Amino acid sequence: MSEFWTRTSVGEFPPMLQVENVTAGYGAGAVLTDLTLTVNGGDRVAILGRNGVGKTTLLRCMIGEISPRTGVIKLGDRDITREPAHRRARMGIAYVPQGRDIFPGLSVMDNLKVAAYGVRHKAWADVLTDVLDEFPILRQKAKLAGGGLSGGQQQILALGRALMTQPKVLLLDEPSEGIQPSIVDQIADHVRRINELRGITVVLVEQNLEFATNIAEHAYLMDKGQIVRELPAKDVLTDRDLQHEYLGV
Ligand SMILES: Nc1ncnc2c1ncn2[C@@H]1O[C@H](COP(=O)(O)OP(=O)(O)O)[C@@H](O)[C@H]1O
Ligand SMILES: [Mg+2]
Repeated sequence: MSEFWTRTSVGEFPPMLQVENVTAGYGAGAVLTDLTLTVNGGDRVAILGRNGVGKTTLLRCMIGEISPRTGVIKLGDRDITREPAHRRARMGIAYVPQGRDIFPGLSVMDNLKVAAYGVRHKAWADVLTDVLDEFPILRQKAKLAGGGLSGGQQQILALGRALMTQPKVLLLDEPSEGIQPSIVDQIADHVRRINELRGITVVLVEQNLEFATNIAEHAYLMDKGQIVRELPAKDVLTDRDLQHEYLGV
């Protein structure tokens, strides 16, 4: 692994990402109401909750696609509430959106290069080598159109694309959705390794409880636009009442 990863490594305990009393939504209605959440540097956390409780909206607030009406968002010590999305990406927040959103007409290689171009880091060629080492399938398929990959391979491409920006924090929105089980396990392995070797903080939104607890150590339960519980991820797996109440399973 090259020095480029260690330079952005975190692996510290202070808060990496803080959402303080955020209210946000679309039009007149609020989806997030006075939501507060702290993610410490180097952690792997999952945000769990039923469909429609506002998980994607929360991630979109973190990356700057949605401006909160009230409240503050911080990256480390820095208040980023008013920073536009492209600046937050350069500061180290990477996002793998629900549904992956890769460029289907661009080659796998160009999908990766475009991501690096977006953040304008100089060392992108070395980062590219690292990303291709982490995901050998992307090297194999480099010349194929992104749209020609399977769903699982597209998810791996989306992960690789996020790593091209050398993030401090990686936000993943339902990466297991619509992907066959064998690849779901591989993705969990990659995400854990990305966190452990590179010190990248991981914030995962999921409906797949088994997958989420396979990755995350810590869980936040979300309901009606707020974080209502915080607990060790493995405790969610054994608590049927909790699952029924907050996850509808
Ligand atoms: N672009 C949008 N415009 C208006 N309402 C939206 C939009 N996106 C999501 N919503 C609404 O906001 C609420 C929360 O959605 P979302 O954050 O996607 O939830 P989750 O990711 O937890 O399923 C839902 O009621 C949804 O219908
Ligand atoms: Mg969602």
